[in-house]
Parts: sequence; C-alpha cells; structure tokens
Amino acid sequence: MTARDAPYPELKKTHVPERVGRPWHDVKPPPAAPVWGVIQGYASYWALVAAVELGVFDALADGGPSPVGPLAERAGASPEHLAALLDGIVALGLLDKVRGTYELNDTAVRYLTSDGAATMADLVAVANGPLGNWEHLADTIRDGGPATPVDDDPVGFYLPLVRATFPTQLRAAGRTAALLGLARAAGPLRVLDVGAGGAPWTVAFLTQCPDATAVVNDLPGVVDHARERLSEAGVGDRVEIRPGDYFAVDWEPGDYDLVVLGHVCRAEGTEGTRRLLGRAWDALRPGGRLLLADYFPDNDRKLNPFGVLMGLTMVAATARGRAFTPAEARSLLADRGFARIRLLEPIGFNQVFVATKPLSDTTRSTTSTTSTTSTEETS
Ligand SMILES: C[S@@+](CC[C@H](N)C(=O)[O-])C[C@H]1O[C@@H](n2cnc3c(N)ncnc32)[C@H](O)[C@@H]1O
Repeated sequence: MTARDAPYPELKKTHVPERVGRPWHDVKPPPAAPVWGVIQGYASYWALVAAVELGVFDALADGGPSPVGPLAERAGASPEHLAALLDGIVALGLLDKVRGTYELNDTAVRYLTSDGAATMADLVAVANGPLGNWEHLADTIRDGGPATPVDDDPVGFYLPLVRATFPTQLRAAGRTAALLGLARAAGPLRVLDVGAGGAPWTVAFLTQCPDATAVVNDLPGVVDHARERLSEAGVGDRVEIRPGDYFAVDWEPGDYDLVVLGHVCRAEGTEGTRRLLGRAWDALRPGGRLLLADYFPDNDRKLNPFGVLMGLTMVAATARGRAFTPAEARSLLADRGFARIRLLEPIGFNQVFVATKPLSDTTRSTTSTTSTTSTEETS
C-alpha cells in the first residue's frame, strides 16, 4: 500500500482548529494575493468599462482578429495605450492574444459584444449602481443608508439598468417558462408583471404561450421601454401597460394565474417585500402561482460571493435594499400563506421561487415543501 504523504511539515498535523481552538492562525504567513486581488478588482472593472466604451469587442466581432494598430485607429486611440488596456483584458481572460494578434474568445463573443447571444455589454457600466456611492460606502454603513439612494430618481437609474439587463433576464425568464412547462398550461394564462422593467418575463411567457395575456406594471417613464420591447417581440397586442407605483396601482383581485416579482424585492427591504407579497397574493386566483425572482446569497451569507456582493450593492445604492437568503425568502412566502414553495435556478445565480396560492385559505399555515434544486414542475 502506498504511504500517505503528509501535506505539511509534522508540526502542522496537530496545528488544526479542532485541536488548538479558534481563532486559529496558520504557522506560516498567508500570501497577500487575496488583498491584491481585491485592490486590482478596481483596475479590472475599469479596464472592462473602457474596452466596451472604446468598442474593441465589437471591432473584433466585425473585422476579425487584429493587431493593435487597426483597433487603435478605429477607436481613435493611442496604440501604445490601447495595447496596455487590451493586455489587461487578455490577462483577465476576456480576450485572447496570439502572436500579437487580439481575438475574441467564447466569453467575449457571448457576453461582451453588442450582438452577443447573452450580451452584457451595456450592463458593465450600470450593474454596480451609482459608482460614486461606492466611494462613500463607509459613510453609508455608518449612517444606515446612502446619502444619494437610487430611490431619489428611480427612473433615471432604472431605465438604463433595465435596458442593459433585458437580454440576461430574458434568458432567465425563457428558461423558467420552459422549466414550468407554461406552454402546456390548460387554459390561457393571465400574467401580472410587477416592476417589469423592459418586461422580459412577459415577453418570454407570451412568446411561449400564444393565448396568454398580461398586465405589465412599472413606473411612468420606464413603461415606455416595456412597450417597445413587447412590440418588438410581437406580443404587444396581448398586453395592457399599467403605469404606476407598485405599492399603490390597482390590479384586479383574484384574477391572475401568474404574478411575477422579478428582481424588485431586493430593493425594498423586508417590509416592502411583505407588502409586495401581499399585493401579489391578492392579485392571484386560488391555485395561481407567484414567481419571485432574484439573486439570493446562500443561507450563511458566505459561500455565494455573487449573491452576498449583490446584497452589498443594494446597501450601497438603495435606501432600504438588501439581499434575502433563500431561507428568509421562503419564510416570507410561507408567512403570507404561499404553499408548494420551490426554488429554480434557470441561469447561474439567477434564481426563482415558485409559490402557489392554495385553493383554500385554510392551508395558509401549511408548511411548504423545501426542495432547493432546479426541478421541472410536473403539475
Ligand atoms: C431591477 S429592475 C427589474 C426589472 C424586471 N422585473 C426584471 O426582472 O428584469 C426593478 C424594476 O422595478 C421598477 N420599480 C422600482 N420601484 C417601483 C415602484 N415603486 N413601482 C413600480 N415599479 C418600480 C423599476 O423601474 C425597475 O424597472
């Protein structure tokens, strides 16, 4: 039998938290790399913003692989400086360079070109919320909120954001519809899309379900963008646009088969979310389903950095926002009376709770199911 090699010197074998307790310190100093990684995250971000702004991904998509000269000419940039930028992007794994020629890799084609199948090109600049807020994060944490939350000018903030998130959200919505088998629904679906943005959920559902109709809500000033997207998708004639504050605008009680709360609750905090869940409940017919879509961190808020940092982004940008863990979301849903609660992950990190308003209100306190896997809905 092969002897098992000790991974560390003898001393380390007994120097474990279980034996010496916590806080535990390694016997050799850790590398500085994680700290440098965070510091250089700033450079990485701005390099990508600049590369998108200079159009290098689109230039490579249009003209194919290229040395820096023609790219600099097209961008009106200094070749030497552009080479420094592009080398940074290559080092980040977002472009390839072969013998001095830059070329798109698959990630760049899909996510960073304007016409990419899952383009995030417009999202890069806006996804972190107002960038100036990050410089005042310590003040925000001290004061319990940012001095300039996006809530002060929601249309100014959300309009560019929902333009930029549309392709990503459309993918999430399209896969959710497929996972739920919406196209096989018994009758024509009636959908209420609350805080719809460009209405990616309605576009996906109505595209897959030719008899479905929808009411699409968002703030005046954002709904015009929804109108454009719905008409581009050829489903505008099956949609009523209902502009207004989603805490106040009227909708028909008990009328809807599906209510979508797509990425709205994390900006509203716990009380706002309770109110929105209550309003969704009222709008649903018995047996109807709520889709609560969002970026949720893991329950310990430590294993899913994407979700945890999305929560911090809400803290930096909004008056009341925070990310809910799946356990918190599940309990908010169950408290409101929803049953058969399940969690889908149609695309990475982008998760959707599906929760049913029971046929009878006597089931209000029924314990929900707790499956957390992406599951095809069978009924
Ligand atoms: C992050 S976007 C989500 C858009 C879309 N539901 C999705 O999943 O992609 C949040 C949306 O909520 C809208 N919103 C924010 N506050 C609102 C309010 N009080 N009433 C109606 N809509 C609101 C914003 O305008 C924005 O379109």
